[in-house]
Amino acid sequence: MIVLGIETSCDETAVAVVDGERRILAERVLSQLAEHRPYGGVVPEIAARSHLDHLDRLVAETMAEARLDFPALAGVAATGGPGLIGGVIVGVMTGKAIAAVHNLPFVAVNHLEGHALTARLTNDVGYPYLLLLVSGGHCQLLVVEGLGRYRRLGTTLDDAAGEAFDKTAKLLGLGYPGGPALERYAVDGDPSRFDLPRPMLGRPGFDFSFSGLKTAVRQLVEATPALDDAMRADIAAAFQARVAESLADRTRRALKHCRQKHVPLTAMVIAGGVAANATIRATLTAVAMEGALPLVAPPPRLCTDNAAMIAWAGIERLRLGLTDGFDFAPRPRWPLDAGAADLADGAALR
Ligand code: KG4
Ligand code: ZN
Repeated sequence: MIVLGIETSCDETAVAVVDGERRILAERVLSQLAEHRPYGGVVPEIAARSHLDHLDRLVAETMAEARLDFPALAGVAATGGPGLIGGVIVGVMTGKAIAAVHNLPFVAVNHLEGHALTARLTNDVGYPYLLLLVSGGHCQLLVVEGLGRYRRLGTTLDDAAGEAFDKTAKLLGLGYPGGPALERYAVDGDPSRFDLPRPMLGRPGFDFSFSGLKTAVRQLVEATPALDDAMRADIAAAFQARVAESLADRTRRALKHCRQKHVPLTAMVIAGGVAANATIRATLTAVAMEGALPLVAPPPRLCTDNAAMIAWAGIERLRLGLTDGFDFAPRPRWPLDAGAADLADGAALR
């Protein structure tokens, strides 16, 4: 089963061809970073225009590299949301057009489901597993019980983890995108020099909060007129350590909860762009070990936005006969734990 995947929900135009044996036959990820950098963030209109300019060419290149013609495909999967609506429309329209012309099934994939299932593509992880999804728009702890069955334990009360990285990097003047820039600065920093707050540590439940930490950094920066690189590095290191601690605390509680409820977890999985962060990966590896579970963290290039994860989610859906009609409407908002309801309303059982 070979599926073409298309991802256009944010600032990466991505195309991939993946097969049922979990092989990525070819893939392209075109970053729009340079186009958005002057604005310090993603500009939705520029993103949509850029997806439109490049997507057809990337599809042709990817198919050529995989040495495939469209009739060899079992289906076409495109991100159907959540995300910047202009970009999602471009991807969905392109996916539908290819499917219609070649008489192939079309699958609209929830972008978050793509992140959630990546560990099955990379490591063949079995259900159920505990997932920490940490990206620019999301910060959630979920039990992935099966395809389309996501039980959300906790979410962020304010900023997503990646958003907190991006905003804090901006405060420190580290450039854009913030997450990777902040991580590079933190390498030379001393995480113990500044006493930043420890968000949600020891609190009941599994929710996250990062706005207090960000505010503490702002106050620190405002109180320090001559911020030099050494201080930037120390603040970056402290911030990163606090985020890692907070993610670890919440995850540890969730693992304990699953154990008490006798959920037979096979692994602890991290996904989303922030999962590319080495300190966070190391901290969560230790948490998983405490719970006697393997930590599965996809390689960084498959943690950030890509189309292999969309193709793979398409394969999992097609295996169950789940497809979408050409009347599928792109969804700017599409919570993952509404997946069960979605099976009833959005997708048709073939
Ligand atoms: O999953 P993703 O590529 O896009 C979304 O769906 O949001 O995640 C992007 C987010 C951005 O906020 C980015 O700053 C963050 O992931 N990120 C990182 C790192 N690499 C990307 N945050 C911390 N450390 C990193 N190395
Ligand atoms: Zn993403």
